[in-house]
Amino acid sequence: MKINNYNDYEEAYRFSVQDPEGFWAGIASEFSWKKKWEKVLEWDFKKPDVKWFIKGKLNITENCIDRHLPLKAKDLAFIWEPNEPLGEARHITYLELSQEVNRLANVLKDLGVKKGDRVCIYLPMLPETIYAMLACARIGAIHSVIFGGFSAQSIKDRITDSQCKVVLTSDGAYRGAKQIPMKATVDEALLECPSVSHVLVLSRTKQHVNRVKGRDLVWEEECEKRSVVCAPELMDSEDPLFILYTSGSTGKPKGVVHTCGGYMVYTAYTFQNVFQYKAGELFWCTADVGWITGHSYIAYGPLLAGASTLIFEGVPSYPDQGRFWQVIDKHRVNIFYTAPTAIRALEAAGLEFVTPYKLDSLRLLGSVGEPINEEAWHWYHTNIGKGNCPIVDTWWQTETGGIAISPLAGITPLKPGFASLPLPGIQLMIVNEKGKEIKGNGVEGNLCIKFPWPSIIRTTYGDHERCRTAYFATYPNLYFTGDGCKRDEDGYYRITGRVDDVLNVSGHRIGTAEVESAIDLHDEVAESAVVGYPHDIKGQGIYAFCIVGKTQKPKEEIIKDIYENVTRLLGSFAKPDKVQLVKGLPKTRSGKIMRRILRKIAEGELSNLGDTSTLIDPSVVEDIIRDRIV
Ligand code: WT7
Repeated sequence: MKINNYNDYEEAYRFSVQDPEGFWAGIASEFSWKKKWEKVLEWDFKKPDVKWFIKGKLNITENCIDRHLPLKAKDLAFIWEPNEPLGEARHITYLELSQEVNRLANVLKDLGVKKGDRVCIYLPMLPETIYAMLACARIGAIHSVIFGGFSAQSIKDRITDSQCKVVLTSDGAYRGAKQIPMKATVDEALLECPSVSHVLVLSRTKQHVNRVKGRDLVWEEECEKRSVVCAPELMDSEDPLFILYTSGSTGKPKGVVHTCGGYMVYTAYTFQNVFQYKAGELFWCTADVGWITGHSYIAYGPLLAGASTLIFEGVPSYPDQGRFWQVIDKHRVNIFYTAPTAIRALEAAGLEFVTPYKLDSLRLLGSVGEPINEEAWHWYHTNIGKGNCPIVDTWWQTETGGIAISPLAGITPLKPGFASLPLPGIQLMIVNEKGKEIKGNGVEGNLCIKFPWPSIIRTTYGDHERCRTAYFATYPNLYFTGDGCKRDEDGYYRITGRVDDVLNVSGHRIGTAEVESAIDLHDEVAESAVVGYPHDIKGQGIYAFCIVGKTQKPKEEIIKDIYENVTRLLGSFAKPDKVQLVKGLPKTRSGKIMRRILRKIAEGELSNLGDTSTLIDPSVVEDIIRDRIV
């Protein structure tokens, strides 16, 4: 599975295109299967219908845990660093991981959770959060992790969509200087979730929580009573492993479904090769486990490789902006994987937060979630990597399951601002608006993938047609990423950002449609249009144009309500940066909002608004420009 040098990369890439089945069968053979697959791949992007390692039987937790026990029982699976620098770190070995996962799996079983049932996980960054995911996988339940920053409404929507039976949560969470209620938020969500029979509550902050008789249970008490042995459920390669909700350009978030066999093979393969992990190293991915980055590179990828990972409960700015660097020195982190938005925020804080730390344990840096601008790349390389750590700029998506375009650490020559080259197994294609392939180098267009890889999205939970229209219908026989990209003269890829109505705000993926629906619930708002604009720290900021008619209410009050509504309905990370109340929006005769014009206004590019002659009422544009927020 390990690619060791550039020649290996090129050879592996060629082989992966000539004989994809042979290529992936070789990698899959390195895992423990209860029954070998009968056929490597069947696929049809029209439906879409993709199956990998057909009729293979396995349990991913055996590969994450049991497989390592004979030789590595005492090796560290996790170091957990708490929110408070003075708090005590926890060290968890593979043996302890095994015991804790099995106890919790037994609890879930006794609560009536069976193979195929859905379980919701709403927890802070704790080792128990990973135990929860693995406990589900152990018994064949499908986990649906919901990021701890989501509102009660968002939790309700997600639990309802996948009909979760059990919720795993904690009393509260520490995040920087804040103490956040978790259980109370779950309680509010569950007022309208009849599918949920039980809630298991872990104690973290010891804050007071309500206890609903017959429904709520104390996590620690339940685990204590259970055995540390739990036989793994026999799973088919194509059985769902988890659902993870993500925003698209239309409607409510989609439940992206990943399956046991393909996801296992791909996350392990990418973890090994992109980061070139060596035994004994400590890997730290700063993402929250509520996003795909946390699923693939805090939980599954590293555990499949038998690696040691740092789990961090806190935030980069608490107690000060040097916290990341202090943690790196404290635990001697070797590989550090974070998001450009964090890098830019910490750069803005000033070097005085970096210089007190040695950072000499670092071997490799990573970036994920949004394009990294060259300026931030150089700052990261020079000040954090001290000029001698490669940076892997990893491009991928919730739907790809794992890293798809990235340098391989120490192997691929680097170019700041470029995710560089596709991993072996990933066959990219750039197309124009009409779906025609743009060949050659020095070109730009929409990024597609033309051949399946093992962890490609299988479906959107409960609505397969949505999966087809969102990813496989724009261009026939291609998976469309929603991103634009350039391929330079050397064949290197630079991702230029979304070409659909999806925003990337501080690495959080937000559908403009979702923000608009939340804004439109306001009585005084007739209609709204949300667009992104470049933001120095967040990558993109959110600009909302809202039509408000004649009203007695003061403007400031309406704007304040809009902020509150979005926070309550979606979460504070989706709160617009700018809200402008307008009389009308630029619409075409067919009633379509011309977002292109709004985007230009939000970006401050007023001289170049393009053709406005097709608008019903071009004067609305002048009004909007006059009152725009800078
Ligand atoms: C979108 C996917 C995959 C992990 C986190 C985000 C953007 C992701 C990069 C990168 C430029 C990137 C894309 C993509 N993106 N990584 N290295 N360079 N853009 O997962 O929430 O599913 O978002 O994030 O626009 O489509 P996600």
